[in-house]
Amino acid sequence: MAPYVPPHMRGGAAPAAEEKKPQREPERAPQRDDRPANDDVRYSAPKSNGGGYSGGNNDDIRYASGDIRSEGRLDSKSTKGWHARQDGRRPGMNDLSELDTFGEKKERGGGIDFDQYDKIPVEVTGEGGDQYPPMSTFSEFKLADELRWNLNRCGYDRPTPIQKYAIPIVVGGRDLMACAQTGSGKTCAFMVPCIESLLRSGPPNSNNSRGRPVPSPCALVLAPTRELALQIHEESLKFAYNTGVQSKIIYGGADIRDQLREMGKGTDILVATPGRLTDFISRESVDMAWTQFLILDEADRMLDMGFEPQVREIVMRSGLSRKLEHPRQNMMFSATFAGAVQKMAGDFMIDYLFITVGRVGSCSETITQTLLYAQDGVGKTRALEKVYRENAPPDGFLTVIFVDTKRKADEIEDDLWKSGLRVCAIHGDRDQTQREQALEAFKSGENPILVATDVAARGLDISNVGLVINFDMPKHMDDYVHRIGRTGRAGKRGAAIGFVNEKCRYCTELAELLRGANQEVPGWLGQLAKENSDNYASFKGKGKGGGPNFGGKDVRETSKAAKAAEEEQKKKDEEKKQAEEAAAKKKKENERPKSPPREVPDGWDDSDDDA
Ligand SMILES: Nc1ncnc2c1ncn2[C@@H]1O[C@H](COP(=O)(O)OP(=O)(O)OP(=O)(O)O)[C@@H](O)[C@H]1O
Ligand SMILES: [Mg+2]
Repeated sequence: MAPYVPPHMRGGAAPAAEEKKPQREPERAPQRDDRPANDDVRYSAPKSNGGGYSGGNNDDIRYASGDIRSEGRLDSKSTKGWHARQDGRRPGMNDLSELDTFGEKKERGGGIDFDQYDKIPVEVTGEGGDQYPPMSTFSEFKLADELRWNLNRCGYDRPTPIQKYAIPIVVGGRDLMACAQTGSGKTCAFMVPCIESLLRSGPPNSNNSRGRPVPSPCALVLAPTRELALQIHEESLKFAYNTGVQSKIIYGGADIRDQLREMGKGTDILVATPGRLTDFISRESVDMAWTQFLILDEADRMLDMGFEPQVREIVMRSGLSRKLEHPRQNMMFSATFAGAVQKMAGDFMIDYLFITVGRVGSCSETITQTLLYAQDGVGKTRALEKVYRENAPPDGFLTVIFVDTKRKADEIEDDLWKSGLRVCAIHGDRDQTQREQALEAFKSGENPILVATDVAARGLDISNVGLVINFDMPKHMDDYVHRIGRTGRAGKRGAAIGFVNEKCRYCTELAELLRGANQEVPGWLGQLAKENSDNYASFKGKGKGGGPNFGGKDVRETSKAAKAAEEEQKKKDEEKKQAEEAAAKKKKENERPKSPPREVPDGWDDSDDDA
């Protein structure tokens, strides 16, 4: 790959002021497996005893949780169906090798401290939530052998809390809204049960017409950014490996014809950004009638003002799921779920369960958060370089710097580049090639600093991000949670530094968030909160983020509690009113002028006076 140079500086020299930092051990680029095709693990290892891999020894991580080759359940009918599906695909033309799909073998468990993870409280709310006991291991749940093998090959020994709860619920057929911390394995929590359910149900009878069939995905995953869609697609290829289920991706900025060609080879799971999907639907290049699963990753973002109309159009007007005999299953996942968004999400779901993992909308305690007071202006830019140099993570680790505008991203990239730092940038005005080049240079460690707008705030999983700097604090509290969540992934440690000033409208909530994550709260933050209280009050009224609703508690529970409290209050008010009325009546009676005692003449009975 050619070295990354900021687009506007191309043709100039690479930064000279600083020697290139020694980089971490370069990861071995995934290479094509050079074994003969028929020796490929997909066709040998899982299907016959000991075939395929030389030796197949017991230390092989692929078989660490039970050798699926010896269990004699490998020709399961369900997967046969997907392998044999007649939808115009050319078998074998589609499949990547094991190495291309999974890359090199990774550390088992990804370094997650599962004992710590297991202490995180999980709450399931909604009717019948107790009917889906969480699984404690992947094997206990009897996932399809191929799926279990794939999880094993990913290095997943044990499920994370969200996976424990979400997989049984989704396989059990329920709609699900799930709120769990950044980096806690939500992708697997929606992708695995989706594939497992597809394997159990087998392919639909969708392509029995003559001629070239239109791709008709059984599952649709929508994500807010191209980079996140690409990442989810890569993960889906791992989980679906050798199952016969085909995952494809479409997103803006890339060649439509290439995407169409790929989809034509078979599309069972479609990962998409909303704009490109709408385009495909309007060209009738995709038929959504057979879609059994609708999954919104970063669902609160997908349903906020920017995306909601597109998502609504896809769901309401694309004929989504219209040929299904059973209702479609819907899943929504995020690390934050503001109450207003949840209410809107309810429009798309039926009788859903809600999972909350950990404190409402909280951050992982593995991220050390530091706040610094910094006024906007030239001094702040200078401070950035200083703060970065003083806090730069060790070699081999990466840093993301978030700013609030595309122009600022260009400027900061420029400044840092000129100071000799190997930096790259990503934002919405860069074309797709530039975005991919920047991300590639960043991930490889070639340019270990990424300056980004919110386009990189959600979902991106780069395990060695060691530091996040919020040069500009985001406008909303939930965005802060997602941004700092680019570090401290999957139980790893990370650091986040935020430059805060009067513009930050959620100081009170921020202090609460810090306290909840056992972080130090700077004394000046309270002062800033007080100074901002007027603005803050009006800000809170506007809805998104910042307010007390920003996190992710099931609004139905909150409104249930509110309703109960309201009923209780009504009852009390009624009792009070009755008591007051009774007291008033009594008082009135007491106050009524008493008729003067009459003297009744002896022997004269006055009881019939009124008659
Ligand atoms: N059971 C597991 N065992 C080991 N590693 C896991 C497990 N589940 C997920 N991971 C790893 O954890 C990392 C984070 O997963 P993922 O990106 O799905 O998190 P997320 O909850 O979606 O985060 P975000 O809110 O930022 O989108 C990934 O590198 C993934 O491979
Ligand atoms: Mg995610």
